[in-house]
Amino acid sequence: MKKIVVLSGAGISAESGISTFRDAGGLWENYDIMEVASIDGWHKNPDLVLQFYNARRRQLHEVHPNPGHTALVNLESHYHVTIITQNVDDLHERAGSSNIIHLHGELFKARSTKKASLVYEWKKDILLGDVCELGSQLRPHIVWFGEVVPMIEPAAIEVAMADIIMVIGTSLQVYPAAGLLGLAQEHARIFYIDPNPGFSHEMNFLKNLNVLSEKASTGVPKVVDELLNP
Ligand code: APR
Repeated sequence: MKKIVVLSGAGISAESGISTFRDAGGLWENYDIMEVASIDGWHKNPDLVLQFYNARRRQLHEVHPNPGHTALVNLESHYHVTIITQNVDDLHERAGSSNIIHLHGELFKARSTKKASLVYEWKKDILLGDVCELGSQLRPHIVWFGEVVPMIEPAAIEVAMADIIMVIGTSLQVYPAAGLLGLAQEHARIFYIDPNPGFSHEMNFLKNLNVLSEKASTGVPKVVDELLNP
């Protein structure tokens, strides 16, 4: 079975109603990244960080996968599919994808600040005073700026073995995620689906790059259809 790797970003969830980060009106226009999404911000003002993620977690209960997420599931009948997502929402899971790597963590999980391996399913607000079984404050299970990306190695292995790579709705601005494209095999077919495609250094070396300048809800089904009916 041929291997498909999907590298998705905030854009795949945009049509579900979740703001992207760097588009006009995006999250980083209204919040200071370093205050709400960095380990230094957490140490400086944990309550502000908790409130930022509580608002995003509450919204996640109200939104649903869109055709961009659901079309990817159809590929699993004919391909080995690995979704590598930068997103912290669970829309790929809810759409039915079965093999997902979250590079930047998961909004519906909380973890201990004392022992990182203590991770809990957590769909409500996290408040100051909410503690793990060891008695230490809970934090969002999110990879913040200034922290390592624990899942980058498994993700790199998947990309290095992919026959087809679908890049969907990411500005390719954030490393190490954006650097994964540099691991693509020479023969790999690459599809980049984004209404306003970004550009990264790694793209210079891609031999079979097909850019579809359109939204995920139309672009992804198109590519899936092509891959299922070659
Ligand atoms: N369909 C597909 N792509 C879209 C859509 C859509 N409907 N709407 C916007 N986009 C594209 C934009 O053109 C842009 O290229 O989605 C991309 C969003 O880029 P960013 O906001 O930078 O999001 P992302 O690339 O996922 O950011 C990576 O940065 O702040 C960190 O941790 C955060 O995981 C995030 C990382």
